[in-house]
Amino acid sequence: ALIAKAEAIAREFEYTAEDVRKGVKEFLREMDLGLQNDGQPMTMIPTYVTSVPNGTEKGVYLAVDLGGTNFRVCSVSLKGNSTFTLTQAKAAIPKEMMTSDSHTLFSFLAQQVKAFVEEHHADHFEEFPDHHLQLGFTFSFPVDQRAVNKGYLIRWTKGFDIKDAIGKDVCELLQKEIDALGLPVTVAALVNDTVGTLMARSYTSPGKTGTLLGAIFGTGTNGAYVEKLSKITKMTKPGANIGEYDKSTGEMVVNTEWGSFDNELRVLPNTPYDQELDKMSVNPGIQMFEKRISGMFLGEILRNSLLALKDSAGLFAKADIAADAFLHTPWSVDTSALSFIEADNSEDLARTKQVLEAQLHVPAADISIEEARAVKILAHAIGRRSARLSAVPIAAIIIATGKVQPPPQPRPVAAKTDEELEVIDIGVDGSVVEHYPGFEKLLREALREVEELGEKNEKRIRMGVAKDGSGVGAALIAQVAAKMKGIEN
Ligand code: BG6
Ligand code: GLC
Repeated sequence: ALIAKAEAIAREFEYTAEDVRKGVKEFLREMDLGLQNDGQPMTMIPTYVTSVPNGTEKGVYLAVDLGGTNFRVCSVSLKGNSTFTLTQAKAAIPKEMMTSDSHTLFSFLAQQVKAFVEEHHADHFEEFPDHHLQLGFTFSFPVDQRAVNKGYLIRWTKGFDIKDAIGKDVCELLQKEIDALGLPVTVAALVNDTVGTLMARSYTSPGKTGTLLGAIFGTGTNGAYVEKLSKITKMTKPGANIGEYDKSTGEMVVNTEWGSFDNELRVLPNTPYDQELDKMSVNPGIQMFEKRISGMFLGEILRNSLLALKDSAGLFAKADIAADAFLHTPWSVDTSALSFIEADNSEDLARTKQVLEAQLHVPAADISIEEARAVKILAHAIGRRSARLSAVPIAAIIIATGKVQPPPQPRPVAAKTDEELEVIDIGVDGSVVEHYPGFEKLLREALREVEELGEKNEKRIRMGVAKDGSGVGAALIAQVAAKMKGIEN
């Protein structure tokens, strides 16, 4: 009965081929809305980055990265031959800082920069006391970007909630705290992690056509891609409030903020477990796509569905009151549990039991094999739905940018053979795509189900993890920004 009930709940997480196709259609509609108008849920933020690197960029740059699992400061030395070296310091952001005030957060960041440059760049300041190091600030939240180094925070995501920062230019907030410490460091560029990932991928694997898309499937999910300026009509229409940017390439990288795709739930699945999660979040009603896909949330969806299985079929019959309390505590299950359970293909599901013991405090010895199997069925269904949902924006962006192979031409113009078709290059990063077993495989299955793509186009997609993506990407954009101001590092 337990297994049958688990299978019934798992079916609620099914996201069919038909659903994928509907999702793509709606995504294309919301992309257009966001490119044409300000203030849309899917914000489609122009980033003021008008070209992607080609591997020849050079110099030493600092980068600060806020918004993933770890906060990082790094320095990147770009060698100019598609390679780089990177030195970094990582720290977890203290949880209470995520809901503090902007001075507390940004002075913490500045202090970390100070400690880092004192440790790694002391010689620079002795030799060139007046030469500021240029810093790229990876800030992975939606901002209303108005220049390469200016962006006003629209809203927090991923559990951050610092009210007085909303509407402020986050580069200025950081620069002010850096100046207060007397550091010769200039915040030269503001970069979303997806844009950093796109840049890094393009630098390290420059192809004939460059990288199309940078995507994050980590704590949150989002993507940035190269768009034609002529399609970003909100920048070109009369009265648009935009600053200076280089128009010569005819392109600009757009940060979609797809985490807020379909906040109105026109096409997204909405199980009771999703509804419960949304209710308990700091931002109900927004980031609805992200809440079904990314690392901050999958553990909580699993917890909600385990509760349902407990109520209806007596899951964890032997668990004591303490374990029961954990199961009833919001956010007590980490998304890494799903990855471990998915990876456990053993007969006795020992690893699954261990994970449940570690996270839910149900002693492994008290978990029956049937119970472990039931949990695995749910965890798999939730991970699979996440991967299939993730295909929606990727398919839509490939279609919207005209990268699908054109339908066969009438003779005499021959259609391109498989070998002649160009690669569609995508850079990805984040804990879910990196650690959830088979995430890319499941995602690709869904891509093939989109009629416009099919197997032929799906095969052209090359997806690669852009390791340390945003640090390198931020350095690359700082380089471009500094060069425009005539500063060479
Ligand atoms: C890191 C990037 O590699 O991946 C971060 O440097 C990014 O900028 C992160 O936010 C996303 O992954 P996660 O899982 O840490 O959110
Ligand atoms: C959230 C943020 C977005 C970021 C993504 C991945 O969706 O709003 O800016 O890119 O998480 O970190």
